[in-house]
Amino acid sequence: MELPFAESYRIKMVEPIRRSTRAERVQWIKDANYNLFNLRSEHVFIDLLTDSGTGAMSDRQWSEMMLGDESYAGASSFHKFKHAINEITGFEYVLPTHQGRAAENVLFSVLVKEGDFIPGNSHFDTTKGHIEIRKAKAVDCTIDEAFDTTLIHPFKGNVDLAKLEKVLKDNGNKVPFIILTITCNSSGGQPVSLANMKEVKQLADKYGKKIVMDSARFAENAYFIKLREEGCENKSIKEIVREMFSYADAITMSAKKDAIVNIGGFIAMRDKELYKSASVFEIVYEGYLTYGGLAGRDLNAIAQGLYESTEFDYLDTRIRQVEYLGNQLLEYGIPIQQPIGGHAIFVDAKRFLPQVRKEEFVAQTLAVNLYIEAGVRGVEIGALLADRDPVTRENRFPELELMRLAIPRRVYTNNHMDVVAAGLKIIWDKRMNIKNGFRIVREAPIMRHFTVELEKI
Ligand code: F0G
Repeated sequence: MELPFAESYRIKMVEPIRRSTRAERVQWIKDANYNLFNLRSEHVFIDLLTDSGTGAMSDRQWSEMMLGDESYAGASSFHKFKHAINEITGFEYVLPTHQGRAAENVLFSVLVKEGDFIPGNSHFDTTKGHIEIRKAKAVDCTIDEAFDTTLIHPFKGNVDLAKLEKVLKDNGNKVPFIILTITCNSSGGQPVSLANMKEVKQLADKYGKKIVMDSARFAENAYFIKLREEGCENKSIKEIVREMFSYADAITMSAKKDAIVNIGGFIAMRDKELYKSASVFEIVYEGYLTYGGLAGRDLNAIAQGLYESTEFDYLDTRIRQVEYLGNQLLEYGIPIQQPIGGHAIFVDAKRFLPQVRKEEFVAQTLAVNLYIEAGVRGVEIGALLADRDPVTRENRFPELELMRLAIPRRVYTNNHMDVVAAGLKIIWDKRMNIKNGFRIVREAPIMRHFTVELEKI
């Protein structure tokens, strides 16, 4: 007999959560205008809204919090933070920021101009936002395979080199950099291979362009490389991370993901001139160069978190839990994005509820039903998120209607995953009874999904 797999940590502090009744949930979600963002968190049993800032810090991270140096300038905490980033990423220059989008704001203030094109692999919403707010355009060059949820491909985050070269050829003088999002959140937490990074780097060099990596889930990307890419099985995660970043000129980081902290982010870069230019915006938007919107204790916790998240055993525990949930859903025949990604399960709502009209918000309908059934909160990635066309004001209906179940790091046990899977299975078995979705009662002119009010049809 072989010993089974088990988590690479034990638990020494717990937070009670309460299982509510169905009648309570029916009332609460109605009071929330059928918008899961409007729920009070204590009305949620298992919260899979996001894996961002929701992780559990380790005993060592909490110890580091007590050692925070809160000096305004030159704090020892900054030097600890910078040292960890130098060691793990290989970049010399570092600017702390309060979260990932703040890193985008500071860096893009230097690099992005009106009329620019920024090619990449399915830019994350805030990345796209920071490009579009500067009247530039994000061009999606992800491989086509990424958009077929049933197709198995080891690196669905990869860039299609032909699509990328076309942008560089047609608009080369208006491309300040190429952005690679690792792992690619928008295509389902899917990794980019080292080989693809290398090829993108060759194209970037050919056209004299910089590469920026949106590194929120860089350690998870490295884990997939170790498991799936030929010749990488004997490399350590830290070696793979250094190689990944050797192909980049700068990175933006949301430390709320793979640094396993509740708040924080940073920019790291190779070029001193870029650092100097970015420092001007850093001081205006984030704070002095050695704290950038964070407390000294936060900087310490990020440093420690980066060392922990680049350990194989941690990543193995983390990603196997996501797979554990995904594999149960697959056994039940529930359609999900495959292969299973690093931080979340993406349920294909159109294939789950084919009878619900797209005008009635299919993924939202599934997410509300899952909340009522099991007290589980996921999030819609579909027509509500896609918003209206800025010019015609018509609803945009994306190809995929997905419900994302993002798994916080080191927070829930596999028993919780069992509840999530069973909740979805119960709905799956009676899915044909769900005939109607929702209509919008009130919505904001932009980013409507956060505050939209809905009513049942
Ligand atoms: N880049 C990626 C790939 C992200 O997933 C996120 C955030 C950001 C940048 C922005 O970072 O939130 O610290 O400002 N993603 C969260 C999510 C919100 O739920 O996927 P932030």
